[in-house]
Amino acid sequence: MAKVREVFVCSACGGTHSRWMGKCPDCGAWDSLESQTLDKASGLDPQRGIVEVWRSMGDRKGDAESARDGAPSATPIAEAGGGVESQRIPSTIGELDRVLGGGLVEGSVVLLGGEPGIGKSTLLLQSAASWAHRGGRVLYVSSEESAEQVRGRAERLGASNEKELFVLADTNLARIVEQVRRIVPRVLVIDSVQMVYKSDIPAGPGSVTQLRRCVADLVYLAKASGIAVVLVGHVTKEGVLAGPRVVEHLVDVVLTFEGDRYHAHRIVRAVKNRYGTTMELGIFEMTGAGLREAPEGAGVAAVQGRDGAPPRPGSVVCPVVQGSRCVLVEIQALTASGFLGAAKRKSSGLDSNRLAMLIAVLEQHAGLRLADMDVFASSVGGLRVVEPASDLALLMSIAGAHRRKAIEPATAVVGEVGLGGEVRPVTQIEQRAREAMRLGYTSLLVPHPNAKQASVKGVRVVGVRTIEHAIETLG
Ligand code: TYD
Ligand code: MG
Repeated sequence: MAKVREVFVCSACGGTHSRWMGKCPDCGAWDSLESQTLDKASGLDPQRGIVEVWRSMGDRKGDAESARDGAPSATPIAEAGGGVESQRIPSTIGELDRVLGGGLVEGSVVLLGGEPGIGKSTLLLQSAASWAHRGGRVLYVSSEESAEQVRGRAERLGASNEKELFVLADTNLARIVEQVRRIVPRVLVIDSVQMVYKSDIPAGPGSVTQLRRCVADLVYLAKASGIAVVLVGHVTKEGVLAGPRVVEHLVDVVLTFEGDRYHAHRIVRAVKNRYGTTMELGIFEMTGAGLREAPEGAGVAAVQGRDGAPPRPGSVVCPVVQGSRCVLVEIQALTASGFLGAAKRKSSGLDSNRLAMLIAVLEQHAGLRLADMDVFASSVGGLRVVEPASDLALLMSIAGAHRRKAIEPATAVVGEVGLGGEVRPVTQIEQRAREAMRLGYTSLLVPHPNAKQASVKGVRVVGVRTIEHAIETLG
């Protein structure tokens, strides 16, 4: 008799425990452990079914993949993969291709995570239309919406006339694979993978067991067939659905779709990418007709003081480099009276440790009294800024907010701040200066050693050595 063992898996972090507990000892989530049975004998090759399906279908690629019967054998690295090179599937959405490292790769599995309502279905339907238009057949499987709903959305997005775009509304993985076998797409989109289930597993859709097994099978399908698979995973705070984190290790690329639901800007970034860098980000704008690419981040920070509005103290624009692009981000700060010893330091979109450090630097080296002040700081538009080059902008916005002095209009600020109150040089200064100039900024505050490199035509460059010097320039 096969030995069946019961384990408890956390739906938030995926940790396994031998007994049930109210709180997961690994991640601290409450009521997140689910029972799962481990059958050692049947668990040997869970993907068998799918491999057989692909064998019986005949070889689509006609390569070593199907000829290689049974277990794979070890080969010298130069000959590995049978000389078959994975191709990139072309699309017309440059911002997404940029994050994927040049486009979707054949036979790869991409997981797109994000909060419900952020626009994942919209992005993937638009991408599916684009792949269908340029790259080949696409099957869009909707496990949450009916085919009519998907069609209605496609009509709004102007994607309903794509001949190579197929839609399927189903949640059963076996039936989905059946349809994949019938129409043989080049790209398979599953929106969302958390609602997909295998009927031979006793757990319900959305549980860790189902999610793991379904994703493992889909990864196998992608590798065996060369189909690019794109999965949507909801990130929920409540942990009702197993989070996409528990399958991140199984897939090739993990993208997150973030941004403030109440702002138009949406940012796609790679958390993991086996085919490219994780430094790049794609910027989109949500409009009435779907997502629009925001070229080079324009519009993230509008030039201040141009429209005749009075300058705002506590608001400073900084050119931030993300991957190969430069984005201008507005950083805002506010100080309000708090209680000594219990003053709040809150940040959104910024690193809270750096905020605490900059407040200490301001107290020590610029003589600001902030110990009994609450300090709030945020990056406008939902972009997460972690680059140390944004230090000076954040510091000046706090100083400006505290002293109620605004920075000169149309000025951008960049520089790293050291613990000694010195302003340290940053990299890619020329790119930052050019981007600031392109977007209409006429003056630039930079670290003194960078001043020479930063001089581009039409921009007044001020080099500063210390934070005191920088704060003096506040009007
Ligand atoms: P959706 O793609 O359904 O989000 P997700 O799949 O991540 O849950 O869309 C989210 C929101 O986007 C929706 O509430 C309405 C808005 N939206 C637009 O503003 N314009 C559009 O053209 C579309 C299709 C959606
Ligand atoms: Mg959706």
